Amino acid sequence: MNKKSVYLDNNATTQMDERVIESMIKVMRESYGNPSSVHQIGQKGKKFLEESREMISGLLGLKSREIIFTSGGTESNNMAIRGAARCLQKKGMHLITSVIEHSSVLNTFRDMETLGWEVTYLGVDEKGRVSIEELSRNIKDETVLISIMHSNNEIGTLQPIMEIGKIAKEKGILFHVDGVQSMGKVKINFENIDLFSFSAHKFYGPKGIGALYVKSGVKIEKLMTGGHQERNRRAGTENVTGVCGMAKALEITLENLYPELEKERNLRDYMEKKIFERIEKVTINGDLDNRLFNTSSITLEKVEAESLLFALDMKGIAVSAGSACASSTLSPSHVLESIGLSSIRAKSTLRISLGRFIKKEDIDYFIEMLEIAVENERNLNII
Ligand SMILES: Cc1ncc(COP(=O)(O)O)c(C=O)c1O
Repeated sequence: MNKKSVYLDNNATTQMDERVIESMIKVMRESYGNPSSVHQIGQKGKKFLEESREMISGLLGLKSREIIFTSGGTESNNMAIRGAARCLQKKGMHLITSVIEHSSVLNTFRDMETLGWEVTYLGVDEKGRVSIEELSRNIKDETVLISIMHSNNEIGTLQPIMEIGKIAKEKGILFHVDGVQSMGKVKINFENIDLFSFSAHKFYGPKGIGALYVKSGVKIEKLMTGGHQERNRRAGTENVTGVCGMAKALEITLENLYPELEKERNLRDYMEKKIFERIEKVTINGDLDNRLFNTSSITLEKVEAESLLFALDMKGIAVSAGSACASSTLSPSHVLESIGLSSIRAKSTLRISLGRFIKKEDIDYFIEMLEIAVENERNLNII
């Protein structure tokens, strides 16, 4: 039985930080009341909830009433896109997004099309960046919302968010940013962003809790009918423990942001250099000068990533082939295809995403096992 465990799939999810677990246990023990109840036990829950909201908004330089708690990135994206679009349909029914968005955004837009909305899907260049020129060309009088991800979950490419935001502002169009992969991995500048989604499990917090930043003055229609929680914008009893866990996770992450990013970047660069030295016919995808420090999308010619993934898993190493969601389907990643990879190359691509708990010896072990696995696969001559 192999005891070594090396987790290199932090873009799929992260291991919860012990300090976050401790803080959540404390909340579960000390507060079980429903924040909507008027009695003291309920109000204690409300206090935990509101203190966490203050903490999160304070850490991000936002106002507390601008934060709506959700069940995670998927719900935040749905809430932003559907909620904002419904409020604006009298003004126009054209929406803009990109071809490399996460499925929670892409499938929402596809659904909006069936409801009568017109959607433009902007292409990306070989690095995965949307073009400002193409965006400007596609804006119409009827355009009411632009939704572009802050960074891509598969290749790590960062988008020109500031420039897109400026154009959106000039044209009076709402700008939503799926920031799920960027929160805790880069410093976020909220200038010119109207709506921003994030999710705690991507920064060492619990799963099933996230938030949507809604800039003051921006209106969104609520998606679920029910109670008046979250200033009447998201019905349902609040996940107090999750919210407290998310606040703690964000605090820990932002406190140590730069040293942690520096460590991840150094280890990622070291890993890529070693892979180049030891394995032939390797390319790295994405914008090498402008990508998340923890992410490496690597195409290994003449190897099936799925087989590699299982071989590495046998050695206790967790990586991903494409994105976690795409890897359960056999179709090649839409992101890799969008940046111009052939379907064969896309299926020969691994995503390695580093995180807080990774050490240099883990990377050395990974490289050693990868080299063996690639050699074995190539000898089998599968492709
Ligand atoms: C870019 C991006 N957006 C949205 C999501 C969905 O977030 P959640 O898992 O919290 O629903 C993910 C998750 O992988 C993601 O990577």
